[in-house]
Amino acid sequence: MALLEVEVTSVTHHTDTLFKIQTTRPASFRFRTGEFVMIGLPGVTLPNKKAPLLRAYSIASPVWADCLEFYSIKVHDGPLTSRLQHVTAGDTMLIGDKATGTLVYDALTPARVLWLLSTGTGIAPFASVVRDPEAFEKFDQINLVHGTRYMKEHMYAEQLYTNVCQLDQEMPGAFDRDRLRLIKTTTREQDYTTTYQKRITDHLEDGTLFWFGNGGEDQLQFDSETDRVMICGSTAMNRDLKALCLKHGLQEGSLSRPGEFVIEKAFVG
Ligand code: A2P
Repeated sequence: MALLEVEVTSVTHHTDTLFKIQTTRPASFRFRTGEFVMIGLPGVTLPNKKAPLLRAYSIASPVWADCLEFYSIKVHDGPLTSRLQHVTAGDTMLIGDKATGTLVYDALTPARVLWLLSTGTGIAPFASVVRDPEAFEKFDQINLVHGTRYMKEHMYAEQLYTNVCQLDQEMPGAFDRDRLRLIKTTTREQDYTTTYQKRITDHLEDGTLFWFGNGGEDQLQFDSETDRVMICGSTAMNRDLKALCLKHGLQEGSLSRPGEFVIEKAFVG
């Protein structure tokens, strides 16, 4: 894999632990919505090696944008994020020349509703999906579900929703805010007006996720005819949600055999 240099154009610190980086996009760099790429910093190498230290980051920007966007957690002693959190506009970053990943439309068979289930920075690939007109062409309804510990961690999701509303005003027909639903849930803080206090897995177990997602009170589990699911979060959350999807009768999809749900396995944040 070759590495490309990109220039940081802006950095936004959302909370003391979450931040967003925007960079230039090399003309040659192509990706599919939902994919990730390896990123690194010049001079930051593997311990006692010359090779650069690289980490997989989902591309959060839409495919049509001329910039790239990454959403990251700050880990105090993390080998890469301890340095990445200090980059500023004008700095150089490295990205792999090839993007890849499992959260792509082609790994799913056609259906009516797309569920994007994420925790923490696992929302990043879905930031690309909800800003992609193709998602609105392929699905009648998109439910973006974001689980966090605290409410302030929903800031990025809220800005995304606002961004889609703006895109809908600028390009009605390509985007449709009425067909996008943002469902936020927190587990360690209570605010009954805007969020729901449970893990996503618990909302699935008791069926509440479906009435938030406009499935109506009768829907208690995923329907393999109508629902497709993309999952991106911690290893434990991925594992538990996979088990629930299987229990609901959905089959895991891949590019070689499209199915009814997909999981990003490279994501570790
Ligand atoms: P909880 O607060 O009950 O641990 P984290 O910051 O640790 O990645 O967690 C982000 C969110 O994901 C939190 O709301 C956390 O809930 C939730 N979470 C952690 N593990 C799981 C799991 N196995 N299934 C569903 N949600 C999970």
